Amino acid sequence: MKDRIYLCLAHMSGREMDYIKEAFDTNWVVPLGPNVDGFEKELEAFLGGDRYVSALSSGTAAIHLALLLAGVGVDDEVVCQSFTFAASANPILYQGAKPVFVDSEEDTWNMSPRLLQQAIEERIDATGRAPKAIIVVHLYGMPAKMDEIMSIARNYGITVIEDAAEALGSLYNGAQCGTMGDYGILSFNGNKMITTSGGGALVCPSMQQKQKAVFYSTQAREPFPHYQHEQIGYNYRMSNICAGIGRGQMTILDEHIAWHRHTAELYSQLLAGVDGVTLHIAPADKYASNYWLNTILIDKEITGKDREQLRLHLDAEGIETRPLWKPMHLQPVHSSAVAYVNGVSERLFDKGLCLPSGPCVSDDDIYRIVGEIKRCFSTK
Ligand SMILES: Cc1ncc(COP(=O)(O)O)c(C=O)c1O
Repeated sequence: MKDRIYLCLAHMSGREMDYIKEAFDTNWVVPLGPNVDGFEKELEAFLGGDRYVSALSSGTAAIHLALLLAGVGVDDEVVCQSFTFAASANPILYQGAKPVFVDSEEDTWNMSPRLLQQAIEERIDATGRAPKAIIVVHLYGMPAKMDEIMSIARNYGITVIEDAAEALGSLYNGAQCGTMGDYGILSFNGNKMITTSGGGALVCPSMQQKQKAVFYSTQAREPFPHYQHEQIGYNYRMSNICAGIGRGQMTILDEHIAWHRHTAELYSQLLAGVDGVTLHIAPADKYASNYWLNTILIDKEITGKDREQLRLHLDAEGIETRPLWKPMHLQPVHSSAVAYVNGVSERLFDKGLCLPSGPCVSDDDIYRIVGEIKRCFSTK
């Protein structure tokens, strides 16, 4: 029996326990402390040194705080990429605001700047005011068309939140994803580029914004000796134990990125001769994806089998894959939301599959996966 190959497993450097042990030895078993400070500094250095990072309990919490800092409140509209994981959009509803979903373009699979422009103009006509924020996602690690999106947002004075949960280490025109918008968010969930078991970070443009994020993430406690509260806060700060895992992971982040990119190259070589299968690769050099997950589209007209038939075949052979994200405008929970669609994300959802990726997937695994893809399409 061959070992099962999983989609994207956590991979440790071996240094994590040193930081955790130090936290226990010094009794910093709380949601603040030297590992939290150290992890934030290491992330800031990695991101290029001109941003301020607040370590939080999840990427979802980071999106929520970004919306709060952007001043999003009840009945405001927030434009959100439709082709994404639910967590990109959920915090809009936490704030009592309304999502306006915008479909993707073909090159990067991320927010279409053309549809974004149309959405903003039509929402201004319909409501008399521009949306309060834009949540753009670098899905599967592929950078979105940030130049165009930022220039549209600046024209209307709209805050941009970059959801870089899947894109730590991806570069757009040489800039780190998460540092180009007004705010960026990162996720350190178990399957991401690095993990803290569960966790996230808000990337802020100034120390003042970071301090606000920390304030709201620690129950908005005012600086009094007693507990004084003048605003509603949240319990979103990262624990010093989780941050210890994060510091251990930072020592191996570059290797993780290199390995994800290596898997993309190997898939690209091996899938080159497979008719009807297209690997999603960067449309130009300026999109330096981290290839968090490698993704393919299946053309049933050519392969004779659809995405679900391939997924079930691979599953039976001990290979975990997953359909691409189901767009938010197709999700029952968002059925009443306004959406600007062009058919791109629906087609991607219909035809697309995520393949095992990351440091726990070996070259041999990739040979086995591609071999099984070929076998699936060669049998009736
Ligand atoms: C695109 C995207 N946004 C947001 C999140 C939320 O991050 P977290 O799971 O850390 O809350 C995730 C991952 O889980 C994600 O993939």
